Amino acid sequence: MSRMFFEPGNHKEHGFTFDPFKATISPRPIGWISTIDENGVTNLAPYSFFNAVSWAPPCVIFSSGSRPDGSPKDSALNAAKTGEFVCNIVGKAQAQQMNQTAIHFPHGTDEMQHAGLEGLPSQYVKPLRVKDAPVHLECKYVRTIDLPSVSDKVVNRMILGEVVGIHIDEKYVADGRIDVTRYQPVGRLGYMDYCAVAEVFEMNRPD
Ligand SMILES: Cc1cc2nc3c(=O)[nH]c(=O)nc-3n(C[C@H](O)[C@H](O)[C@H](O)COP(=O)(O)O)c2cc1C
Repeated sequence: MSRMFFEPGNHKEHGFTFDPFKATISPRPIGWISTIDENGVTNLAPYSFFNAVSWAPPCVIFSSGSRPDGSPKDSALNAAKTGEFVCNIVGKAQAQQMNQTAIHFPHGTDEMQHAGLEGLPSQYVKPLRVKDAPVHLECKYVRTIDLPSVSDKVVNRMILGEVVGIHIDEKYVADGRIDVTRYQPVGRLGYMDYCAVAEVFEMNRPD
């Protein structure tokens, strides 16, 4: 049996027209990040370099590429400037609107409004929550971690936040547990492909 091997960036050696790296780590959860800018304008954008990274206290990260001139994208900029962000979780019903909020608007554009989404005030932070999203994590910014970058025009930054408040829509809770199949969280696969969790299986640990 043979396996393809190549160094990152050398995918064309094997006939891949598009770098398959992101498809190898799939599905990736999507953090639909809401922030506010220095003038209080709402910003909303999806990030699939997103995950929970600790449990007590709960912390999350999202990782942002840059604008074509190497400057930070709005979510990373706003989180660092204001010290706050909200991770909204995307259910299957919100997939199309989530995609709308990925449009590269100029700084200061309210993508929540553009996508026709309603915002709800948060408890501990200023950014609004996406009303229709099944789960919201209110976060306090901890720090930005600079990641390796291939050039000064492609700068990668990882934003670390501590979760200080969690909202869960009650209609997705049954018998004291979240039932994700009721909202089917959307995951990012490679390319333009997505999945939605419709089936779960349980497995107890051996010890
Ligand atoms: C499903 C999805 C996932 C995305 N994940 C990321 C990501 O992890 N990092 C990133 O820099 N951009 C990602 N993008 C692109 C950003 O959402 C896009 O550049 C957006 O305009 C950034 O907005 P902002 O400048 O308001 O933060 C993703 C887009 C989509 C549709």
